[in-house]
Formats: sequence, C-alpha cells, structure tokens
Amino acid sequence: MADMHNSDVPTPAPIRRVDYRPPDWLVPDIALDFDLDPAATQVRASLSVTRNGVHDRPLRLDGDGLVPLRVSVDGRELTQAEWTMEAGTLVIPLTGEAHEIDTLVEIAPEGNSKLMGLYASGGLLCTQCEAEGFRRITFFPDRPDILSRYRVRMTADKARLPILLSNGDPVAAGDLPGGRHWAEWRDPFPKPCYLFALVAGDLACNADRFVTMSGREVALGIWVKASDLPRTAHAMKALKAAMAWDERVYGREYDLDVFNIVAVADFNFGAMENKGLNIFNSRYILADPETATDIDYDGVEGVVAHEYFHNWSGNRVTCRDWFQLSLKEGFTVFRDQNFSADMGSHAVKRIEDVRILRAGQFQEDSGPLAHPVRPESYMEISNFYTATIYNKGAELIRMMALMLGPERFRAGTDLYFERHDGDAATCEDFVACMEEGGDIDLTQFRLWYAQAGTPHVKATLAHDGTTGIAELTLEQSLAATPGQPDKAPMAIPLRVALFDPVRRSHGGDTMLMLTEPVQTFAFEGFAAPPILSINRGFSAPVIVDTDRSQGDLAFLSAHDDDPFARYEAMQQLMVHMLVGAVAGQAGDEAAVIAAIRHVATDPMLDPAFVAEAIRLPSEAYLGDQMPVVDPDAIHAAREGLQARIGAALEPLWRDIHARTRAGSFALTPAAKGARKLRNTALAYLVASGATDGDAIAFAQFDRADNMTERQAALAILANGDSDERVAALDIFYNRYANDPLVLDKWFQTQALAGHPDTVAQVEELARHKDFTLANPNRARALYSAFAANQWAFHHASGEGYRLVADAIIALDRLNPQTAARLVPPLGRWQRFDAMRAEKMRTQLARILAQPGLSRDVTEQAGKSLE
Ligand code: TRP
Ligand code: ZN
Repeated sequence: MADMHNSDVPTPAPIRRVDYRPPDWLVPDIALDFDLDPAATQVRASLSVTRNGVHDRPLRLDGDGLVPLRVSVDGRELTQAEWTMEAGTLVIPLTGEAHEIDTLVEIAPEGNSKLMGLYASGGLLCTQCEAEGFRRITFFPDRPDILSRYRVRMTADKARLPILLSNGDPVAAGDLPGGRHWAEWRDPFPKPCYLFALVAGDLACNADRFVTMSGREVALGIWVKASDLPRTAHAMKALKAAMAWDERVYGREYDLDVFNIVAVADFNFGAMENKGLNIFNSRYILADPETATDIDYDGVEGVVAHEYFHNWSGNRVTCRDWFQLSLKEGFTVFRDQNFSADMGSHAVKRIEDVRILRAGQFQEDSGPLAHPVRPESYMEISNFYTATIYNKGAELIRMMALMLGPERFRAGTDLYFERHDGDAATCEDFVACMEEGGDIDLTQFRLWYAQAGTPHVKATLAHDGTTGIAELTLEQSLAATPGQPDKAPMAIPLRVALFDPVRRSHGGDTMLMLTEPVQTFAFEGFAAPPILSINRGFSAPVIVDTDRSQGDLAFLSAHDDDPFARYEAMQQLMVHMLVGAVAGQAGDEAAVIAAIRHVATDPMLDPAFVAEAIRLPSEAYLGDQMPVVDPDAIHAAREGLQARIGAALEPLWRDIHARTRAGSFALTPAAKGARKLRNTALAYLVASGATDGDAIAFAQFDRADNMTERQAALAILANGDSDERVAALDIFYNRYANDPLVLDKWFQTQALAGHPDTVAQVEELARHKDFTLANPNRARALYSAFAANQWAFHHASGEGYRLVADAIIALDRLNPQTAARLVPPLGRWQRFDAMRAEKMRTQLARILAQPGLSRDVTEQAGKSLE
C-alpha cells in the first residue's frame, strides 16, 4: 500500500508537547480595523509588541493564506526587503524592546469554505478562530499563551450588515456617508486570539437581563435571523439558569456588561466560547416543539451552558498550549454535565453520558487514533477535538471530585480559579490545585492524563461460608496503544456494594482505590455469598469484567439502589444474551424478558430511567464486546430478540404506549420521560410484528404535536418496508423542506435506518437537490449518521466504505476539518474480518493517494492505516 501513498507532498512534521517554549514576543495590545465586505474585506491590525526575555530573534507572525499589503514598524512603512515570508509566516527583524507593528491584508469571506477565520454564512459574516483560525484573518503570533487587550472597529454597508458585534463591550458607533456605518468594541480582559470574534449581519435580538450575585446587571442578547426569534426562548432560559448555577456551585460571576450569542447555519462544531460573544451552530440555539426533539432541547441547554461556563474554565483561565486542551474542555464538559443533571435527572443524565462515552471514546481509545487526555504530539490540532479530550477528560475531573468529596473539590476549584485567573495554564496546574485544595496525593492519578487506552478491571468475588468473609479480587490491565507499548498501573476509584441476596440490601457503598496490578479487599459478615455491585455511578471510566451469573444480574436489575448499576445490570443481561446468540449459544431469554417486565412495570421508577434500562444495547456496543465484529449476525440477533421481547410483552407495550399519551405538550422532566418511554414501547410494539404496528406508528407520526414523537415514529417506520414508510418520509419532507435543521433529520433518519437498502438510499440521498457538502450539519446528517449505522456501513460489499471515502475526498477540498471527522470509522478495520478489513484499508489508501490532500485528512487517514 505504501506505493499508493502520495509522495509529492511531504508528511508534515508533528508538533510535540515537550518542545514548548515561551513566546519570543508578547502582544499586550491589539487594535483591529475591519472594512467588511463579503467579497473583499480589508483588515488593518496594530500590534504593540514587547520582547519576552533576552534574545535577538525576529518577530514571527503566523499567517494562513494572507499576503501582506503593507507592513510598518513604529509608523514607518517597511520596504519588501525589510520583511520576509516563510511558508505563510511574516518574519520581521526588530532591534528594540517594544514596537508598534501595523499590517494590512485583504481576505474574501464569501470564498472561505473551510469555515475557519472570517466567513460568510446565510448572509452574515462571522468568525471561528479556535484553534488556529485567527491567522486566516490577520498576521499574529497565533498561540494561546499570548494574551492581548482587543479594540475592534468595524465598518460596513448599513443596509446589508446593520448589526456589528465583537467581544467585550460596545464603546461607540456612528453613520458614514454612502450608506455605511461603523461600530467599535473593547474587551478589557486580555485574551488569546482564538477567543476573538466578530459578527456582522441582519440580525434580530432576543434581549433579556441577568443580575449577578454582586448585583451587577448584564444585558443578554441572542441574535438570530428575525424569523427564528420565536425559537430562542429555551436557549435564553438555559443561559440564565447556567449563569445562576455557576454562581451557586462554583462561586463564578459573569464579568462583562453584555453577553451575546449568535446562531449561524454553517459551523464546524457545536458552538464557540468567544469572550462575551459566543457563536453557535444554530442547531444548539433554535428549538420549538414542532421542530426540536427532547434530545435537541437538552442539547441546547447543555451547549449554551457549556459555552457560558467556558467564561471561567477556558477564558479567564486559558490553556498554555493546545496539548492542554482538556484543561478547558474536560473541565467544562464536567461542569455542563452536572448542570444538566441538576436541571433534570441525575440518574438518567449519568446513563446518557456513559452511553456517549462508550460509543465514542471507548472506540477511539481502542483503535489507531487512541491518544492520551494530554497528547504528546499532533500534526493538525483540529483533529484533537476528540471524545478523549472532551468526554474522558470530564471523567478525570469527575474521579478527582469523587476522591476529594464536594467540599474539598470546591476548595480545589476555588484555588485554581484564584491562582490562575488571567493565566495560560496547564493540566498539571489544575491537578496541583486539586492536590493542595483537596489535601490529597494525586501522583499516581496523573497517569490518567498520560496513558491512553481504557483500563480493564477483572473482578472476582470469593466467599467463605464458615468465616462469613467475602474477598473481592481486582486485577487491572491496560492494553498497548500507538506509541505506548508498556503501561503502568493506574489509580482507579471504584464504588462497590455487596448485596445480601436474601435481605436484598447492602451494608453500605464503599469507594475502593485500586492502585496495584492486583489487589484483594475483604468484607465481613456474609452468611450467604453476596452479589457484587461494582463501578456504581460509573465511578471510573473502565471496563469491568465480572463472572457474575445471569441470575446475579437479574437480581441487581431488580434491586440495585444505584440507578447506574441497575441500568448496567440490565444491559449486561442483554449483552450476554446477544453475544451468546451471535456465537450460536442459546441463553435464558425468559430471564431477560422477565427482567424487562419487572422494570417496565415498577411504578416507583422514573419513566425516563425505564426507557434507558429496557432498551437493547446498540449494535455498535455489541460489536465492541466481541473479538471480531460480525455486523450481520449482530443485526440479526438484536432484531430477533427485539421482536421476541415485543411479542412476549405485547399487551404491556400497547398499554404503555396508550398510557403515556399526553393531552398537551410540556417540557418538564416528567413529560420528556413519558415521551421517551412511549417511543421505546412503540419500537417494541412494531418489532413484535403485530398487524396494526405500522398503522399505530403512522398514527403517532401523523398526529404528534411535537418532534420527539413524530421523529421517533418516522425512525421506526424507516426500519421497515411498509407503505407507511414511504408515505411518512414523503409527508415529512414536504412539511419541513424549508427548515434546514428539520431537513437534516430527514437525511439522518434514512442514513441511520436498519434497512437492507440503506447503502443505496444514502447514495441516492447524496444526489438529492437539498443535499450539500458545503453545510457541515447536512454533511454530517448523511455521512456521520451512516458511518454510525454499523450494519449498513459495514455492508459486505464494501460499498459503504467506498461511499464514505468518496465523501471524504470531495469534502476535503471544501472543508478539511469536517472531512477529517469522517475518517475514524474507516480506521476501525482491525476490529473486523479480513475481507472487510482489506476493503477498509483500500479506501484509506485511496484517500491518502489524493493529490493535494489536507493535513487534517492526511493525519487521520495515515494514522488509521498504520
Ligand atoms: N471550543 C469549542 C467548544 O466549546 C469547540 C470548537 C468550536 C472548535 N469550533 C471549533 C474547535 C472549531 C476547533 C475548531 O467546545
Ligand atoms: Zn468547549
């Protein structure tokens, strides 16, 4: 395969964490002057620079696609001989300790399809600078440890771009001749350039206010196109709740007089925490019952909070270099998870978060792209906005919070915010504050930042009837990952409880610290063998292997008082059953059905919990439990079991489905839980093969007063081959053809369908008149969804791989960052049979052979092939 590798383009040299050096020059102040126009925007930058330390190195200003039209130093324009360009970087020799540097460049926002830097989206001009987009706007030392005070002036055509926003507070504005106008903003807080933002366009504002804990009034604005204003209420409510929560839980108050949010249709990620001017993918702002599902509503709440929380964990305390990315992202995800838990159900939120961690991060950690929470090297930093940095990073904070307990954890975060306010800090700084504030030794725990891979913990319980002693032996192991052949034992906090099967209770929940390769813990006072409940609350992000019987799991699924452990027991019961079925072993299906009936009929349980607990594990999760993934056998086994559970409990599904029908729409946790359970019951009812199943699903689709029920019914119908399927897809399209966010669901639902023709249908959808690769949401709705559909993507023909590779190659020319995010599913070839593996490798090699391939896709495809 090596011969297929494109040898014209040299592989870019990796950036290494150990090579960090403080900057040669600092930039305490910057003034930016934008003459805004979609086709040609002029950017004047004035940088006050000061030499940092004793050295004679020149000033190096990063640039990406920029041509210096004018360069001056201390007011004197330089001749072309007085500066040089080195691969995009502007190099200026300087003699003194402090200088004033002025540059002028011209950029074309409407031609910027990468959506990094200044770009056009739906008639707006907006920016995205994290991680390295600022260098596409102006020449600047683009690294997060350079903090500057910003003054921003914008001039634009007043009719086309009537609203002009930037970071900080507005200071002045005015009109100019020729229908033009200007505005000036000032941000008093020094910030790294990745937090710079501007937005210009025809926007309407949902304006509100928040009074902070010290009594300051903050003007809040959510800016959208006028027709979207009615869909901003939920985001505003979430913002105010997040502001109050950060005061109450972390003592963190907002620090500017204004806080603005803008929603844009074209965005590479979820949202961005620019100081005082968060910019959002519109899917995380806009919500109403007709167009947004409950999952969408929760997404809005969680992401609004996440970006707001960054004001302290990210902006006031930022990152020294991009290897420290989890310092802000892991901590901020931890904060938003706990916020959302407080807004709804702790139990259900934890189950959802673990499901997400296992689906994304565990897969990443066991494949060719595995990397530590604090990576050692990268080629393209955009590729490191991963589930490991975000979600595993959050689990690390969660483990520290658990080990410290709430008071000492708060002491640790208080110390962190106080000591590092205004700093560009490191993950080590955070851990040191936890140690000091929490009075705990985290020496061994630090390995979680350095070692990649998901630890396995094997738990064996032995019982001595004569002494009444139960001995729990825990054995940990961590497999090799790329660049890390040998691993040291980790510090793993495991919450456990031992149940007395007769009394159906336990003598207390304990946290065990596993620090050795093997450790045994003794518990006294058990006349009969106890039943092990382990990793309660998912206290550590590890894979626990136990020898618990189906009988033990059934017991825990009925009696465990820890909701996560109870859910996990249900899932384990089903996993054993299904993995066994794939291997041709018959299991005790009656016990699984009995456990489902038990949970589904327990009146004390939260319906949202019930829905989680009775749902069969996903095909992908089942694949993760097998040495070699067999997508066809997994699909067949899971569908078969779903149908038999459906049939065996058909009256129950009918009853739940009827009983959870609401008279009117509400967004309360109870109403959301009822809808979740209702949709789960509908799925089982249709799977049962009942003759009226499709009709009931269609009726729900047709009559729903909310998107949660309508979309779920559509997804259920899309798995089958009924006339109702065709009708519902058609009705849905016609009803929502003009609403991009809902049309995304139409594409996504078909790409996720468990239907034998999904590959061909996705190919056809790619040619649909409403499909475009230029909009990341639309591209992801089709291709990321399809690649997550294990049965379809891994079709034995290899056509699924070919189709995704085609999309990567085409998208790379427009938007490399988004293209690179489609690569990882192809990199999991080692988990599949030789025939599929070869087909996946062929596509990776074909991608790598493309001339002019981006650094983003080169890194991901290259590592995936190794
Ligand atoms: N920092 C953003 C967050 O809150 C992530 C992000 C948004 C991002 N846009 C980006 C990262 C573009 C890289 C490139 O998580
Ligand atoms: Zn973030």
